[in-house]
Amino acid sequence: MKIAMVASEANPFVKSGGLADVVYALSKELVTFGHEVAILLPYYKSAEARLVKKPMFKGALHFNMSWRDCYAEVYELVQDGITYYFIKNEQYFGRDGLYGYGDDGERFAFFTLAARNALPLVGFQPDIIHVHDWQSGMLPALIKVQNHNDPFYQKTKFVMTIHNPAFKGMLDPSALDNLYNLPYSIYEDGSTRFEGRVSTLKSGIVYADKVTTVSPNHRNELLTPEGSWGLEGVLHTREYDFCGFVNGIDYGEFDPEKDSFITKTFSAKTIASGKKANREALFKECFLQDRGGPLFGLVSRLTFQKGIDLVYSIMPKLLQQGAMFAVCGSGEHELEEAFEDLRRRFPSQVSIYIGYSNKRAHEIYAASDFFLMPSSFEPCGIGQMIAQRYGTLPVVRWTGGLVDTVVGYNGHNADKADGIGFDSYDYGGIDYGTGLAMDLYKKKKDFEKMRKNAITKDNSWAKSARLYEGLYKAIL
Ligand code: GLC
Repeated sequence: MKIAMVASEANPFVKSGGLADVVYALSKELVTFGHEVAILLPYYKSAEARLVKKPMFKGALHFNMSWRDCYAEVYELVQDGITYYFIKNEQYFGRDGLYGYGDDGERFAFFTLAARNALPLVGFQPDIIHVHDWQSGMLPALIKVQNHNDPFYQKTKFVMTIHNPAFKGMLDPSALDNLYNLPYSIYEDGSTRFEGRVSTLKSGIVYADKVTTVSPNHRNELLTPEGSWGLEGVLHTREYDFCGFVNGIDYGEFDPEKDSFITKTFSAKTIASGKKANREALFKECFLQDRGGPLFGLVSRLTFQKGIDLVYSIMPKLLQQGAMFAVCGSGEHELEEAFEDLRRRFPSQVSIYIGYSNKRAHEIYAASDFFLMPSSFEPCGIGQMIAQRYGTLPVVRWTGGLVDTVVGYNGHNADKADGIGFDSYDYGGIDYGTGLAMDLYKKKKDFEKMRKNAITKDNSWAKSARLYEGLYKAIL
C-alpha cells in the first residue's frame, strides 16, 4: 500500500507535542510491514535547522489560493524508510514558531493545497491519504470536490485522525472560497459548518472515509455531550466509521536497556539498582538533596490541559512529607512561574527545566518513582506509557486514553496494577492519587511488583499499527 500522511508535525524534524511522535512512529511501523509511507510536512524554519542530511529539491509548485498566486518548493528526504516531503514557502513557514500566528488558517490552507499538488509532482500516488487534526482537515473535501475527475486521485481513500478535539480550525465562512476555492454550498449544507463558522476539523470528519481517534475510551467520550467538545452530533453521523486505536510509543527511542541519555541502563531484573543510580545522578546534576521520599517526575507541555495547576497545588504538601520533584517542559507563562516559585521555596527538593531537553526528559523517566499526568482531558497521552517502559508508575486522572493504558492501584491489586488513578479534577482528586502513591512507596513489596508490571507492559506500536493497516485495507 502507498500511504501519505499529511500533518503539521512529525519526528524527528518538527515537534510540539504527541502528534509528532505518533505520525512518525506509526509510519515507521507501517514501513516495517512493507508499505510505502510518505509524510508531508511544512518546511518550518525550525525543521530546517534539524536536518542533518540535505533534502533533495524535487520541483516547484505554482498554484492559486483563490486570488493569490502561490509558489512552493518541494524537498524530499528519506529517513528510517519513510519518505518525507517538505513544502517550502518563506512567507508562511520561515518563522520561528509552528503555530499561534494570526494567519494560521491561511498558512495551513496553503499547506493543504500544496500537499494536494505536491503528490502528483513527486509521483507518489497514494492509496490512502491519512490526515491528522485540523491543519490538514480540509484535504479530503478539497480532493473529493475538486479532483473527482482526476485520474491521479481516482482511487485514493481518506482517513482522518483526531488527536486534539479542542482545536477545530475555525475560519470565517468566506474562507471556503477565499482560501480553498470551495463552494459555499458545503457550508450551507452543514458539512463544514460549526457554530456559525467553518471548521476544518469537522470537514475532515465529514469527508474522510474513516475517522479515528487515539484511544478507544476517547472515542466513546467523543460521542457524549460532556466529552466531545461539541463534536458529538457530527461524530454520531459517522459512528460506524469511527474507531479508537490506542497510540503506542517508539520502542527504539525509549528503551531503558539501551538508553544513551541515562547514567545507568536497566531492565526488569535490575530495575531497583538502575533507578537508584539514575536518581543519584539526577539529584547531583540538579543540586538536589535527597530527603528520602519518592521522586515525582513531570515531562509535559505546561498547559492547563495537562493538569499542571493540580500538580503545583499539591506539591507543598508532598514536599513537606519528603517527596522530591523533577519537572521538564515549557508552556504558559503563569504555570512556568508557579513552578519557579515552588523551586524558590524548596530549592533542594525541586528541579525545574523550562524548555524541552530530550536528555533531561529521559533522565526523569528513568530516575522517577512516579510520573504525574493528571490531565483534564487526554485523547491518548504518551508520557504515561513512556514512564511505564522505565518502570515509573504513572499517577493519572481517569480520562481519555489514560483509562485504556493504566491499570489503577486500589490498595490490594498490586499483582495487576501498573499505575494510580483518580477521578475528580480538583485538589481532592490529586490529593487522593498522590496520597496513594506516598503510601505505596512505603509498601515495598507492592511497589516493586507494580514497577515490574509497568516495565514489562507492551506499549509498542506493533498492535495498533496493525489496526490502522486493517482499517486502510477495509476501505480500499
Ligand atoms: C494530542 C493529545 C494526546 C495524544 C497526542 C497524540 O497531543 O492531546 O493525548 O497522545 O495528540 O495522539
